[in-house]
Parts: sequence; structure tokens; C-alpha cells
Amino acid sequence: MTDAKKFTLGLNLPSDPRWVDLASKSEAEILIDHAFCEQKAATTCISLIVRYADLDDVVHEVTPVVAEEWAHFRKVLKEMQKRGIKLGLPRRDEYVNRIRSIFHKGGDRKSQLVEQLLFAALIEARSCERFKQLWQNHPDRFFRDFYYDFMVSEAGHYKMFLRLAKNHLPEKEVERRWKEVLEEEAKIVKGLEPSGNRFH
Ligand SMILES: [Fe+2]
Ligand SMILES: [Fe+2]
Repeated sequence: MTDAKKFTLGLNLPSDPRWVDLASKSEAEILIDHAFCEQKAATTCISLIVRYADLDDVVHEVTPVVAEEWAHFRKVLKEMQKRGIKLGLPRRDEYVNRIRSIFHKGGDRKSQLVEQLLFAALIEARSCERFKQLWQNHPDRFFRDFYYDFMVSEAGHYKMFLRLAKNHLPEKEVERRWKEVLEEEAKIVKGLEPSGNRFH
């Protein structure tokens, strides 16, 4: 597996090549949207720890990720500050809103946990793939290095969430569901017009 291929994490559909071009040209909008993604990633991790406080593996694996996501948020904020870009109020996250529909809400606590872990893994995987696009194609050397570090970190988070899911449901079942999720996600990505204002 080549280094670059490793960071597509099995997604069924690569991002539209127009996206990276648009994103590279709208520096402020992409930084703002990226900052909110990191903020939401930290929040998702905290919610998992609060909701599944009785599950040691969840608490111990997810807790360090809160710190990492928060450090990512701060790293993006720092670049924004240098450029005089304000965070402002949160925006509608069309991608996240749509992918929520893929995940089942009911079922027992274990199934709910696995659905939430796969939801988190999916966002990590797509983010990682977008960072890969920016690392490979951004015209500015500074940003290529900047996004490389995020790509590596989010790949680690993706693996952790999938590993946790397999602690709570049989591996084969998790893999079957993950395949389903990836198919649905590809349809959603296909239906979203690429925009330089959105990270996803
Ligand atoms: Fe992150
Ligand atoms: Fe992450």
C-alpha cells in the first residue's frame, strides 16, 4: 500500500477533484469550517465518554482523543488569528446533517454505541481523505505541511473508533455494517456540490 493510498481508509468515493481547488482558493472559509469540525470532533468524544462512562475501553481510548481534537482546534484558531480571521457563529454542516440519516437510532445500548462509533469513524475517514487531498495538492507549501499532520492524526482516530466498535459487536457484523455505511456515504458525497466554503 502506498503512503497516499493508506490515507483513503477504504472510502468508496474519492472527493471531487474540484473541491481541493476551491478549498485552496478560499483560505478563510476553509479554516473556519475546519475549526468547527475540530470543535465538533472534541464534543463527540466527550459525549461518548459521558454516555458510556461504564465502559472502560471507551473511556480510556476516547479520553486522549478529546485533548488531540482540542489541540487541533487551537492549531487552526492560531492560523486564523495570524490572518485576522474570526470564528463567528457555527454554520450548518450539510455533510454531517446528511450522514446522520445513515445511522440507526434505536436498538439496544450496544448497537447504539456501535452506530455512534461508526458515525465518528466515518467523519474521521472522510476528513482524513480531504486532508490528503490538501496535503497533495495545496499550492502553498506551508498548508501542505499543515494538513499532513492532521491527516496522520485523523487516520489514527478512525482506526481507534473501528477497533472500539469491534470490542462491542462481532468483527464480521461491524465489517458488514461499515461496508453499508461506506456505500451510503458515497451516495451522499456524490449528491453534494463541492464548495470551497465547506470542509466536507
Ligand atoms: Fe482532529
Ligand atoms: Fe479526529
